[in-house]
Amino acid sequence: MQKLIEWIDARLPIVEAYEKHMSKYYAPKNFNVWYFFGSLAMLVLVNQLLTGIWLTMSYNPSAEGAFASVEYIMRDVEWGWLLRYLHSTGASAFFVVVYLHMFRGIMYGSYQKPRELIWIFGMLIYLVLMAEAFMGYLLPWGQMSYWGAQVIVNLFGAIPVIGDDLSLWIRGDYLISGITLNRFFALHVVALPIVLLGLVVLHLLALHEVGSNNPQGVDIKKVKDENGIPKDGIPFHPYYTIHDMLGVGVFLFVFCAVVFYFPEMGGLFLEKPNFEPANSLKTPEHIAPVWYFTPFYAMLRAVTVDLFGLSAKFWGVVVMGAAIAILFVLPWLDRSPVRSIRYKGWLSKIALAIFVVSFVVLGYLGIVPATPGRTAVAQLLTTLYFLFFILMPFYTRMEKTKPVPERVS
Ligand code: HEM
Repeated sequence: MQKLIEWIDARLPIVEAYEKHMSKYYAPKNFNVWYFFGSLAMLVLVNQLLTGIWLTMSYNPSAEGAFASVEYIMRDVEWGWLLRYLHSTGASAFFVVVYLHMFRGIMYGSYQKPRELIWIFGMLIYLVLMAEAFMGYLLPWGQMSYWGAQVIVNLFGAIPVIGDDLSLWIRGDYLISGITLNRFFALHVVALPIVLLGLVVLHLLALHEVGSNNPQGVDIKKVKDENGIPKDGIPFHPYYTIHDMLGVGVFLFVFCAVVFYFPEMGGLFLEKPNFEPANSLKTPEHIAPVWYFTPFYAMLRAVTVDLFGLSAKFWGVVVMGAAIAILFVLPWLDRSPVRSIRYKGWLSKIALAIFVVSFVVLGYLGIVPATPGRTAVAQLLTTLYFLFFILMPFYTRMEKTKPVPERVS
């Protein structure tokens, strides 16, 4: 075995890579539960890839056969129901985990210098993940698949001048059809997963270049022992590989409970109208995207006025795009001298709380049908969402921060 490793190592530095990323990667010793979600995101990614590959073996990507092939997977393919529920629940789990992972980053200022690139790669992952989920949702070819895609692709039509041509180009047809299904299938099973994997590798390489942040935002590289090892760091393997097993155990417990007992999650993970085959002549009464898109959907619907000769729909798309785009520049909006929320002032704490409440309530408002009252609330919360970012350069500089300790405690 030793000889084999030496043979390979002389040609490909696997030992060096193992040491750099595992046994000699020194992570801060004070990670808490919020640090489970990165490894859980990787676990869910692997689950999606594996179950996806096996689903593809029995799925038929055509307008004539798609819906029936999903029924076939559910009823006739051995363990097909399990593969499908693992994949559909996995999609929602992915967003639960990624949202918590992003929230951790915001809470502990993990996007701040020198970790801006980790954040940017994370945001690119988030964008690709949304595209991946959107395209995957068309594949079962149910009513919600069809009409959800119709609504979202039509949004591109609101862009002046090129809009109509652009949405036609995306669909490949005048309405969502088998042609659209084919291309979404290709992108969902091949193109986007490759991009996603590549981005995750870059995300982790960028992380390991500068080292992990921690709940206190203390820079552990400042205090090193005589061998140059951070005094507050511990080797990732075996300490955090074992530690992460706890997170994996708890996660799998909850995940399996959902897969086996509540795979539809009351219509939240698998929407009711999607048990009916797609019908281009029958619009469902209430079209709503899956829960993980609904905060942005609520922002889209919150814009109700035409401005400068452009439609409210166009401005809605702009607001929705801006809500995601503004997250990219977060590292440059935060001017605080400290990273972690623990040492920031009251203004940052209140702002973060308002931001979270706005995002969650907007998520709820995007699920339920719009009424004038709800639209007014959505308008207020959309404003608060943006104020969190726009005012950040001011409140993070104005407020009094607490001193950050030299060492982690
Ligand atoms: C497929 C999705 C993703 C995977 C597999 C992934 C994986 C990881 C892993 C394994 C870590 C190290 C462990 C940890 O700190 O939890 C990490 C750290 C980090 N990730 Fe992600 N990530 C994903 C998406 C994202 C997204 C969407 C963002 C934000 C936009 C993000 C931002 C960060 C940041 C800022 C860190 C450093 C945290 C720190 O050191 O405190 N990640 N990621």
